[in-house]
Amino acid sequence: MDQAGQSAWQRLRALPRPKLSELFAADGERLDQFATKLDLPGGAIRFDWSKTHLDSAHLAGFAELAEAMGFAERRAALFAGAVVNPSEGRAAEHTAERGVGKDSSVEEAAALHERMRLLVEAIHAGVLGDVRHLIHIGIGGSALGPALGIDALARDGALCDVHVVSNIDGCALEAAFAACDPATTLVAVASKTFTTTETMINAASALAWLGSNGVDDAYGRVIALTAAPDKAVEWGVDETRILPFPESVGGRYSLWSSIGFPIALAAGWDAFAEILKGAAAIDRHFRDSNGADNLPLRAAFADVLYTHLRGCQTRACFAYDERLRLLPSYLQQLEMESNGKSATIDGKPLEGSSAPITWGGVGTDAQHAVFQLLHQGTVLVPVDFIAAIQPGDDLDPAHHRNLLANCFGQGAALMAGRESADRARAYPGDRPSATILCDALNPATLGALIAFHEHRTFANAVLIGINPFDQFGVELGKEIAKSIEKGGARFDPSTEALLQAAGI
Ligand code: F6P
Repeated sequence: MDQAGQSAWQRLRALPRPKLSELFAADGERLDQFATKLDLPGGAIRFDWSKTHLDSAHLAGFAELAEAMGFAERRAALFAGAVVNPSEGRAAEHTAERGVGKDSSVEEAAALHERMRLLVEAIHAGVLGDVRHLIHIGIGGSALGPALGIDALARDGALCDVHVVSNIDGCALEAAFAACDPATTLVAVASKTFTTTETMINAASALAWLGSNGVDDAYGRVIALTAAPDKAVEWGVDETRILPFPESVGGRYSLWSSIGFPIALAAGWDAFAEILKGAAAIDRHFRDSNGADNLPLRAAFADVLYTHLRGCQTRACFAYDERLRLLPSYLQQLEMESNGKSATIDGKPLEGSSAPITWGGVGTDAQHAVFQLLHQGTVLVPVDFIAAIQPGDDLDPAHHRNLLANCFGQGAALMAGRESADRARAYPGDRPSATILCDALNPATLGALIAFHEHRTFANAVLIGINPFDQFGVELGKEIAKSIEKGGARFDPSTEALLQAAGI
């Protein structure tokens, strides 16, 4: 880190540490400064970071750090389609999928989306016969986004019954088989590389299942979603049923590309287009706003405050909306695979912490399971709450009122705490949280929420000086699993004993 970066850190480390209650007491404008409502295509979203320890002095210190770390340049490079992933010599053009980026990439994405739209609408029109089910096979980014999108947006009246299968454990695929009629089932094989072991083994088993259940042309029921169309052709998929996407779209940023095909099939093309629109609005906000007015950057300031200045090793996200129950696992991949690294973008050892462990769950369930530690445990966990004002259900409004009361009540309790002479009943308080409150959850808001987190992740990477777009950490375990499969290699005594016990 250069001198400017060092001095920004020195300044940040020297800042006083007022409590949250003191921050509110000292500044009547705090809410205006740290709770911001963005008007977006799907309705407004309120981003309330006022219950974090950010204050004006931190904002100034982090702005200095952002400048020292070349935030403006790295952001410009991202949107220009320049190489922002130097270890793999690639751009990261997920925003072009949403229509914001280098002109030629935006055009290419639009053309590929048009191809995808035609296929989705042809299926809906019955061109591929009676299609009632889709088994979507993929893993990591090729599964988490589709699963989240379908669970959030196609709960009622889905246009197709989609089963997302990722695990190589055959139990996962068997559960999908049990729920589908082979005569009316399509199989989507979703893999950026079209080489991922789990996906290719699951895909082969799905083909075998179709074949042994009376489907004559099993390959004719397969749709490939991939950045490696040649490999899909080699594997046996007809070119007309391959939906490609550009190599410059990373796996965990690929929901916007043809990897989003099952969302469009289940929720309809218009819904998918709205997801892109909502994300594009956040792209423009992130590209065009500066300093703490830039909400993903402001969130990253708070993230770095907690990891670097307060030593927090985890960050939790609780969705107070059943439709977003898969969001925490989506964010886990986004944040941990992007920023869980110990090398800087220049290949030097990282000073300080990388990304915190991201975890979470759904409210109110999590309150009855893990919130004890958040309120009284000895580790500090910054928490994000995500909720929508409009209910997703048609039941008595008491349900939703109670859900929101719990969401807001938890944030208030974490901050306020409660004194008690009885240590077991005392709450220390001063525990930070941020709240993201949507007017309504709909396709555009979902797109905006995800894009917000993508840019927050990118901003975090820039502030700590790492490349968020590679993931070499996942390779070693895969290699060892392959050499176990192949046989002949020797391992440590514990692994050898496990292999022997399992008869492998
Ligand atoms: O192993 C990690 C990873 O490469 C993720 O980054 C990716 O989302 C996942 O595997 C699936 O990869 P693919 O889409 O190429 O099958």
